[in-house]
Amino acid sequence: MGYFKESLVILLVAVLGASQGSVLNVRYDQPGHEISPILWGIFFEEINHAGDGGLYAELIKNRALSPKRHGANLDGYAVVRSDGVDGRIYISHDHPLNSVLTSSLRLNVDSDVAAGQRIGVSNNGYYGIPIRPDYTSYRVSFYAKAIGFSGPLTVQIESTDGRVVFATAQVPQITEEFQKYEVTLTPTPDMIQNPSLDNLFTISANGPLSANSSIFFNVMSLFPPTYKNRPNGLRIDLAQKLVDAKPSFFRFPGGNFLEGNTIEERFIWEETIGDNAQRPGHMGCWGYYSTDGLGLLEYLEFAEDLNAEIILGVFAGYALNGDSVPPEEMGPFVESALNEIEYIIGNTSTTWGARRAADGHPEPFPLTYVEIGNEDWFSSDYYIRYPIFYDAIRARYPELQIIATQDVNTRPIPIRDDHFYSDFGWFPDNHRYYDTAPRNGSKIFVGEYATRDNAHPQPEANTAAAIDDAAFMTGMERNSDIVIMACYAPLFGHLNDLVWKPDGIYYNGVQSFATPAWWVQHLFSVIRGDTYIPTDSDANVGLPQEKIFHVASRKSDTNTLILKIVNTNTEDIMIDTVSLTGISTTQGGTMTVLSGGQWDQNDLENPLRISPRSQAFNVTSNSFTYNAPAFSLTIIEIQL
Ligand code: AHR
Repeated sequence: MGYFKESLVILLVAVLGASQGSVLNVRYDQPGHEISPILWGIFFEEINHAGDGGLYAELIKNRALSPKRHGANLDGYAVVRSDGVDGRIYISHDHPLNSVLTSSLRLNVDSDVAAGQRIGVSNNGYYGIPIRPDYTSYRVSFYAKAIGFSGPLTVQIESTDGRVVFATAQVPQITEEFQKYEVTLTPTPDMIQNPSLDNLFTISANGPLSANSSIFFNVMSLFPPTYKNRPNGLRIDLAQKLVDAKPSFFRFPGGNFLEGNTIEERFIWEETIGDNAQRPGHMGCWGYYSTDGLGLLEYLEFAEDLNAEIILGVFAGYALNGDSVPPEEMGPFVESALNEIEYIIGNTSTTWGARRAADGHPEPFPLTYVEIGNEDWFSSDYYIRYPIFYDAIRARYPELQIIATQDVNTRPIPIRDDHFYSDFGWFPDNHRYYDTAPRNGSKIFVGEYATRDNAHPQPEANTAAAIDDAAFMTGMERNSDIVIMACYAPLFGHLNDLVWKPDGIYYNGVQSFATPAWWVQHLFSVIRGDTYIPTDSDANVGLPQEKIFHVASRKSDTNTLILKIVNTNTEDIMIDTVSLTGISTTQGGTMTVLSGGQWDQNDLENPLRISPRSQAFNVTSNSFTYNAPAFSLTIIEIQL
């Protein structure tokens, strides 16, 4: 692991056989169940600008002018003009781009523009257009046409005050019909060394130009370098943080975002595929419009990049305003879900498999899990809606495993999705939540959970919250014979628009950092075993059960014993003897610790304040003392 390594001030002493004081027994002599091989994964939904302005690398805000249902608008756009030049922008419904994007942005030139002057349109992106040292070139595309003007158009990234032009390119000529134009913007390397956000993207016409000309635009697009260089791709630093965590599954697209505030505003997957100029986007449920540029295929391709199982959430006829689709009207919604599955796994002789191929991915994606709805305990009719989807999916795709979001008795529930958002203390107090769950019932997918620090006016992403999560995670790992998957939520948050806190990873346009909670997720995921090893401290002397939590496992291919210890206490806790029963000697290994002050957080100035530290673990005997720091997660990997 590429963590910063340093010496830890942690008392770590081999003890010679004597077991006095507090004891933590690791029962290597009593290996238990298999640990679910897909236990730790991620959940993505469009919240907090997780996609638009976040993982989805598009830098232009309101690319398609937000046309659907709420009426097109100019959010993000403004006129740029030289002194003395007049012009205005407005939405034109008379010059639609196509049958999906039924309007355009019209720039009217209201005065003559002399040579050396300009008039144009700017977009300020998602809280600024980023200049960063690694953004060495930008791909630009847009649709344009004009009346009374034939070019050229100048495309630029420039500072908001207009004093610095970072990159410029020209489109020599445009016509009276909409056409797509593409250019590359390549800033001079020494201009991008200092990251900045106070910048605009501009397209302008240069004088001489006469009054009363009009230029029409739509689907302006600006992409920096993307993850795996995909044209409609993902922001590299954010994608990489997810890849680095090696998640076993990728749940999408929500969450509430799947359901929508109303049935019309649900995630309509058919409108999220194909050319961006054919995607109307839709009003999401978290206060902003989604371009749906991050659409079904982009999700699938990212799951492929992650080498993760796809957990597909399908709309199940219920929206956040409480509206349910009546059973007799459910047909098209069921058909849509089946088509969506066909788009993912159908071969190219099927209608939707062929469409996937046409969209650029001829190979079917592997799909095992389909989740019917989201948090349907808010509704009163899941017992009616679930069977409709269950039966249809089972009939056409019997190999798929179905996840329900609520216990109902009208059909089997192979897997149930449980969600937990709770205050401090709840997660540690409930780490045994699944210890007594029936072993012959549904498997469990903990599809959303997070400690929400209600001690503060707004829940913050501090160490204490992360460590409470970790305590619960020891319980999920211990019970991973039935808890087969779990993922933290929400995953992402743009620092300029946090509608929900805390979150896993924060960013603005130029920087990003993991919160302590994300580091906990990362560590549990990247350091995991395949076989549960019981840890027994019930008979211990002196270990505060409500403050110290632990789980152990064996990683068979590397012959490693993994011990995870969580201390939620305000003080260090000394474990006088960690005893490895069934092991005589070891070869030592590695110890990784995440700890910090109770309310400490990471931020843009100090993004790694709370981050894991790894060091050699030199103990070779089968028993040692460990002083677990206050608010800490420790993972000891012992080579046997
Ligand atoms: O994670 C935020 C929201 O919490 C999800 O959209 C929803 O499923 C849950 O209520």
